[in-house]
Amino acid sequence: MTDQELRERARAVIPGGMYGHQAAPGAAYPQFMRSGRGARIWDVDGHEYVDLMCSYGPIVLGHQHPAVEAAAAEQARLGDCQNGPGPVMVDLAELLVRTVRHADWAMFAKNGTDATTMCCTIARAQTGRSKILVAKGAYHGAAPWCTPRPAGVTPADRANLGYYTFNDLASAQAAAAEAAGDLAAILVSPFKHDAGYDQELVDPAFARGLRALCDATGAALILDDVRAGFRLHLGSSWEPVGVDPDLSAWSKAIANGHPLAAVLGNDAFRDGAQRVFVTGSFWFSAVPMAAAIATITALRDEAAIDTMHRTGTALRDGILAQARAWDLAVGYTGPPVMPYLTFAGDQDHELGGVFAAQALRGGAYLHPRHNWFVSAALTGDDLALVLEATDQAFAAVRKHLAA
Ligand SMILES: Cc1ncc(COP(=O)(O)O)c(C=O)c1O
Repeated sequence: MTDQELRERARAVIPGGMYGHQAAPGAAYPQFMRSGRGARIWDVDGHEYVDLMCSYGPIVLGHQHPAVEAAAAEQARLGDCQNGPGPVMVDLAELLVRTVRHADWAMFAKNGTDATTMCCTIARAQTGRSKILVAKGAYHGAAPWCTPRPAGVTPADRANLGYYTFNDLASAQAAAAEAAGDLAAILVSPFKHDAGYDQELVDPAFARGLRALCDATGAALILDDVRAGFRLHLGSSWEPVGVDPDLSAWSKAIANGHPLAAVLGNDAFRDGAQRVFVTGSFWFSAVPMAAAIATITALRDEAAIDTMHRTGTALRDGILAQARAWDLAVGYTGPPVMPYLTFAGDQDHELGGVFAAQALRGGAYLHPRHNWFVSAALTGDDLALVLEATDQAFAAVRKHLAA
C-alpha cells in the first residue's frame, strides 16, 4: 500500500486525512511511516532517511534500542495492562527521584499534556489558588486550556491564565501582581522553543527571578521538560542553570518511544499531589515503565547526552559553514541537540520549505517549522549523509532565490 493510496483511504475515515503535529509538514513529505532502526527510518514507499525529528522528541537513543526493547519485551511477557501497576512503577519512581535533583516523588501518565495539566491541578490543590502564568506563544499541550488553535476553545477554558514574555522577568512580575493573591503557579519551558520562531536559551537571571517570585508568592514553579527532558541533561534541564522547580512535567524521551509521561515534584507539593484525582486506563501499563528504566539507565551508561551534544555541535558547525559558503543568512538557534534553522526574512517559511524538501530528497528527515532532534544513535556516516543533503538543500534555496 503506497503513501498516496493510504492518504486517499485516510481522507474518507480520518478527519482531514491526518491531524495534529504529525500531519506531513509539506507536499514533499510522506505521511505514513513503516519502520525505524537506530538513526534510520523508512516510509511506506520504502524511502530511507536519517531521522532528525525523532518522532518529534520521544526517540533519544535511536529507534529499537536493543536494551530498551529487551526490557519492554521481558515485561510484556509478564503483563502490561493489569488491575494494578507492576513493581516497575516503584522501581521507576525511585530511579527518577535519584536522577532528578528536585524530585521527592513521581507520578505517571501517558502524554505530555497529561503531565502539564496535572502539574497545574496539583499546584492549585496545594495552594488553593487559581491563576497560572504561561509565556506568550509557549506550547504546553493540546487540551483546551493550552492548545494553540482556537477551534472549540471557550473563554472559560483560558480564564485562569495570565501571560508573560519568556526571559522578561519584569513581565512575569507584572503578571504575578495582576494575579494578586490568586497565583497558583508559573509554568515555564527550559528554553523558548515555540514552533516556527527562532529559539532562545534561558537567561539564568530570568530563571532565578522566577524562582524568587514563586518563593515570595507561595506559587509553584512548574518546569515543562516534556520536549527537552533527558536530551540536555540527565536530570531536569534547569539543573545546569542552578534553578530547581517545585513540579516538572515529562514525557517524550523518558521511555525512548514507549508511551509514558511523568510528573515529578518536591515535598512541599506532595500533599496536593495526593489529594487530586488523576488517572487513566493506560497510565499504569508496565511495559512503558520497564522501557523508561532501561532508557534512563542506557542514557547514563552510554553517556548518551554527551554523545548527542557532540553530534549536535558537529551538525551545527557543518550547517553554519555551508550557509556561509552559499552566502545565505540563517538563524541556527537553540541547544545543539534541539536546533532550529531559519532563513533571514523568511516570514512565511518559504525558504525553510524549499530547504527541508530538498534535504528530504537527499535522505535527511528534518522539519521546516519545528526544532529538530538529534538522537544518540546518529553515526559519523549518518551525519555525513545529512550534511551532503543539507549542502544540496542550501543549493536549492540559492537557486530558488535566483529564479
Ligand atoms: C513543551 C511541551 N509541552 C507539552 C507537550 C505536550 O505533549 P504531548 O503531545 O505528549 O501531549 C509538548 C509536545 O510537543 C511539548 O513540546
